[in-house]
Amino acid sequence: MISLRHIHKRFGAVTALDDVSLDIGTGEVLALVGENGAGKSTLMNVLYGLYHADSGEVLVNGQAVRLKSPRDAIARGIGMVHQHFMLVPTLTVAENVVLGREPSRFGRLDQERAIAEVAATCERFGFKLDPRARVDTLSVGSQQKVEIVKALHRGAQVLILDEPTAVLTPQESDDLFRVARGLAAGGRTVVFISHKLREVLSVAERVVVMRRGKRVAEVRAAETRPEELAALMVGEARMPQAEAQTYHPPGGERLLETKELTARGEDGRPALRGVTLDVHAGEIVGIAGVDGNGQREFAEVLTGLREVDSGSGTLLGGPLAGLTPAEARRRGVGHVPEDRLWRAVVKAMSVEENVALGRQAQTPFAKGLQVDFAGRRERTQTLLRSYDVRPPDPTLPLQALSGGNQQKVVVARELDASPRLLVVVQPTRGLDIGAVAQVQARLREARDGGAGVVLVSLDLEEVLALADRVYVFFEGKVTGTFTRPQFDEREIGRRMLGTGEEATHG
Ligand SMILES: Nc1ncnc2c1ncn2[C@@H]1O[C@H](COP(=O)(O)OP(=O)(O)O)[C@@H](O)[C@H]1O
Ligand SMILES: [Mg+2]
Repeated sequence: MISLRHIHKRFGAVTALDDVSLDIGTGEVLALVGENGAGKSTLMNVLYGLYHADSGEVLVNGQAVRLKSPRDAIARGIGMVHQHFMLVPTLTVAENVVLGREPSRFGRLDQERAIAEVAATCERFGFKLDPRARVDTLSVGSQQKVEIVKALHRGAQVLILDEPTAVLTPQESDDLFRVARGLAAGGRTVVFISHKLREVLSVAERVVVMRRGKRVAEVRAAETRPEELAALMVGEARMPQAEAQTYHPPGGERLLETKELTARGEDGRPALRGVTLDVHAGEIVGIAGVDGNGQREFAEVLTGLREVDSGSGTLLGGPLAGLTPAEARRRGVGHVPEDRLWRAVVKAMSVEENVALGRQAQTPFAKGLQVDFAGRRERTQTLLRSYDVRPPDPTLPLQALSGGNQQKVVVARELDASPRLLVVVQPTRGLDIGAVAQVQARLREARDGGAGVVLVSLDLEEVLALADRVYVFFEGKVTGTFTRPQFDEREIGRRMLGTGEEATHG
């Protein structure tokens, strides 16, 4: 039994935790939910000894303990798997699991003993992992299992999982939920941090909600609904309206068509290995897939950032081959890239200069050859208001805004240019619920206004929420095509892993 009592934690001017108390029982799956920045990770990092609270105390079995480092936490049976894994990719599963407490013989790592020990731990908790496999040959789901096995191997009684399903397929998530429930049934405790409410409710018994550094509610999973949890997370006043999700048949003209398209990735190896698809005006086409299966490269091809190798493609009336970013923009391609921090904006420039970027010579940003300062200011103010960018000050350097607000500026600018085809990559990553709803509403508006939208996202929930059609990418190929309302999440998940039925849906 662990209790966190009246924990306070500040980072400079930011109050990350404001008098948070939490009891963690044995044999339960407890979920910790809240918007980005609510303080979930900070709270658990305090319990894991990574952060030190400014005040408050941690009790383990009724006794106040000092957790100076993760070493102390691990000694008390507390283990944590972070959002970003901390494995050494070039070592084997066994080597990673025993790292820091290796069995040795004559001062050298005793490989065979390490392998036997790790195999025993896997066996005991029902994990199917090859202790001899190198970690960089494993899928993300398996790498996560290695992290969990590592914590259990060190004697974790309480296992903290920070956003563990963010990068998993639905099948891998199901697998993880089984593991979590099994551990709880065996008397261990799992703390599950997430903001995916449906899955939280399917795995946890008890849900604690945090908002802006405070603990605001605790509910039993059996007695609540996702809508109620979302309202608790954001506060009633800011609750976005749920959008009706209807199917929009692609009636419009064909904006993009590719046939057997191939292209190389950053490392020179084939990233697209024969992609055939099309996108029409008035539809949102989702590209689903596990990270690293060619989706990014595909978006780069469409925006002129990556050369086509072979195959053919037509984009807005011209060939895809030889496309440059300037030519893509001229034809009417809008682009909300994933790495907005360096590609889409100049952070030291003001918000209004960023809004004008790429359109400096057009009205209302220019009058003849001169900058139209008043026109630029006015347009920017209108956009900041309608996208609820905070603070709505056009003169601030962009870098003074939070990441979420910078993202809103990029989306506002790209949509303001009325693109015919909009290519968006991970458009809502890192945004809070209110901002996610706004950005998604704008993408639907663009679609309803006749634009074609190509949505690349690793978040399958987002793809399913927005897209009219979905192409699944696996190893640079399309392994499935789905049309709303025939979205079959399980089958999409199987296609993401390169398995599943032969026939395509829809
Ligand atoms: N190491 C840090 N340095 C400065 N600020 C931080 C640090 N870690 C977290 N914060 C801030 O504390 C707040 C809570 O963050 P976090 O606990 O990561 O939220 P959550 O996990 O709920 O998304 C945020 O405002 C975040 O920016
Ligand atoms: Mg976090």
